[in-house]
Amino acid sequence: MSADGRAVLVTGGGSGIGQAAARLFAAAGDTVVVADIDEAAAKATADDIRAAGGRAIPRGIDVAAEDQVEELVAGVVAELGGLDCAFNNAGISAPRSRVSELDLDTWRRMLDVNLTGVFLCLRAELRQMRVQQHGAIVNTASVAGLKASPKVAAYAAAKHGVVGLTQSAASEHAGTGIRVNALCPGGTDTPLLRASMGNNPAVGQRWTSRPISTAEDVAAAAVWLCSDAARAVSGTALVVDQGTFFR
Ligand SMILES: NC(=O)c1ccc[n+]([C@@H]2O[C@H](COP(=O)([O-])OP(=O)(O)OC[C@H]3O[C@@H](n4cnc5c(N)ncnc54)[C@H](O)[C@@H]3O)[C@@H](O)[C@H]2O)c1
Repeated sequence: MSADGRAVLVTGGGSGIGQAAARLFAAAGDTVVVADIDEAAAKATADDIRAAGGRAIPRGIDVAAEDQVEELVAGVVAELGGLDCAFNNAGISAPRSRVSELDLDTWRRMLDVNLTGVFLCLRAELRQMRVQQHGAIVNTASVAGLKASPKVAAYAAAKHGVVGLTQSAASEHAGTGIRVNALCPGGTDTPLLRASMGNNPAVGQRWTSRPISTAEDVAAAAVWLCSDAARAVSGTALVVDQGTFFR
């Protein structure tokens, strides 16, 4: 991993996979903007990074709000002089529900945060990276973005959308120095997974019966996708799930 002091934006950096990634980027010498709707959590992550000798800037932001995303990316560029890498990772889960029972508000919020939020960040980041003529972007999808299962229709639809969005953006920028990839974690030990396990014993049983990754395992793959070592990798949907996908 390079230690070249890049300007890096991580959304959902206040918890779980995003927090682990922010720490890894900073440990490699990058300056990390830690963005999260939970401003206190973003600040706590940035404070931890700074206490460990790294460079981090916290930002409170709702990725589903166009004006906030535009302001965030413009602010990063103004403060850091550009944007080398972005990890569009903020996301939510929803209570399990059959499609026939799924209410429209849940569907809309899921699509707003998990798909439109990625689109808004990606669009603003690409506009800057096209000016710079370089950059690496990783969008967090999920194994549910490749293969759906019962009662997660809104989440699976949003995450399938992230994979398609990523492939389209990557192909538009082939050979330009701008790369866009999707990350597809399986079960990962974070507050999001623990909340869904706690809400439903059957789900808890399902997850505890299979290997689960740490947030750092998944974050390391995002950091690699942003590194020069992955310079020929764009448009991929990288599964990080301990091999459980084909089981
Ligand atoms: N944990 C898993 O098992 C798992 C599996 C596959 C994919 N994922 C995906 O990984 C990503 C990170 O999830 P995690 O498990 O680390 O969850 P997490 O809940 O620990 O972290 C998600 C972070 O995103 C923030 N966030 C939520 N809505 C936001 C918004 N509108 N704007 C800005 N920030 C917002 C939250 O405040 C939180 O800090 C999500 O996209 C999730 O769908 C997680």
